[in-house]
Amino acid sequence: MILPDSTLGVLGGGQLGRMFCMAAHSMGYRVWVLDPDPDSPAGAIADRHLQARYTDHAVLEDMAEHCAAVTTEFENVPAETLEFLEAHTRVRPGSRAVAIARDRILEKTFIREQGLATAPFFAIQTSDDLQTACAGLRMPALLKTAQLGYDGKGQFAVNSPSDAGQGFRQLQQAPCILEERVDLALEFSVILARSVQGDIAVYPPGENVHVNGILDTTCVPAGIGTDTKTQAEAMAVRLAEAMQYCGVLAVEFFLTRDGQLLINEMAPRPHNSGHYTLDAALTSQFEQQVRSLCGLPPGSTELLSPVVMVNVLGDLWEQGTPCWERLFAHPGVKLHLYGKHLARSGRKMGHYNCLAKDPSAAQDLAQEVRTALAPEQR
Ligand SMILES: Nc1ncnc2c1ncn2[C@@H]1O[C@H](COP(=O)(O)OP(=O)(O)O)[C@@H](O)[C@H]1O
Ligand SMILES: [Mg+2]
Repeated sequence: MILPDSTLGVLGGGQLGRMFCMAAHSMGYRVWVLDPDPDSPAGAIADRHLQARYTDHAVLEDMAEHCAAVTTEFENVPAETLEFLEAHTRVRPGSRAVAIARDRILEKTFIREQGLATAPFFAIQTSDDLQTACAGLRMPALLKTAQLGYDGKGQFAVNSPSDAGQGFRQLQQAPCILEERVDLALEFSVILARSVQGDIAVYPPGENVHVNGILDTTCVPAGIGTDTKTQAEAMAVRLAEAMQYCGVLAVEFFLTRDGQLLINEMAPRPHNSGHYTLDAALTSQFEQQVRSLCGLPPGSTELLSPVVMVNVLGDLWEQGTPCWERLFAHPGVKLHLYGKHLARSGRKMGHYNCLAKDPSAAQDLAQEVRTALAPEQR
């Protein structure tokens, strides 16, 4: 076990790294953050911000020497970085799990190999693969780049084989998947933590609404039946066990209108849809990340209150500074801003959690705050 006063390392200094840092600090750990960005949100509050490339071996050696364990806030750290660190210190989750989650082809193939359902898909490496895929799938479909896609980026709507060809050219023929577009009833995610010893704690599923491919709200409890909940939790646990996973794992699900439960993708880290746990669960997903990294057992995932998490994007600044005082007027609303200076459209600047006595009251509160925040209302 790694105990307080030890130093932990995190690769990536965005908001997830920042909230990891905050949880680690409150538990008595020190944190080193590696991120080349001088304005890194996590770097700003870390005990040490290593402002260097992820492949800088001298810096990685320094990190490995001083950090009792290292984790990551994003799956796109170069594979060699995790492998290099693994040779020198504890790395959780390990490079294998991160490698699977980083690549949609490996990820979806792995999920299917576990006997778990996904939307029908084909791996595309060549134009020939694309032809086979178009013949084997029902349109409409989506062409998704295998690597580096996020918030709906790197995806093309495909209604015909010629669309698919055009998308593939636009992706410069990089590896991708062609996947049937399914008819969604709703989307939700299951987040869990698995310890070094294999103990697992699962959070209640969060129902997710995306706008323009970016998560907009997460509502907990999700509007799904007990059977779906039980089945999804078992599927998430199956994935974690199959990878001998150590850390926080997020699994995104699709529930189709005809009642199929499909896994969309997974993230080897805390997830935007788990930010509700900061205020509405007994243990936050970031404390859970610290616990699993340090060889501690998972904390309780008990839900303390119904909650709606609302993402705050840079777009909110378009008409001026948001009216935060109107948000703070609500005693059950908790604001989390990430300390980013530049409010670009689509950029995640923060989120707020709206706690209320039931999910519908939490939804009403979220709507009220959303309207009140907009500067033109001032
Ligand atoms: N096969 C699909 N059918 C229907 N909707 C989809 C499908 N794939 C993705 N989407 C929609 O697009 C969103 C983003 O896609 P996702 O594969 O999760 O990519 P990202 O890595 O950008 O989150 C999903 O949350 C869902 O709303
Ligand atoms: Mg997604």
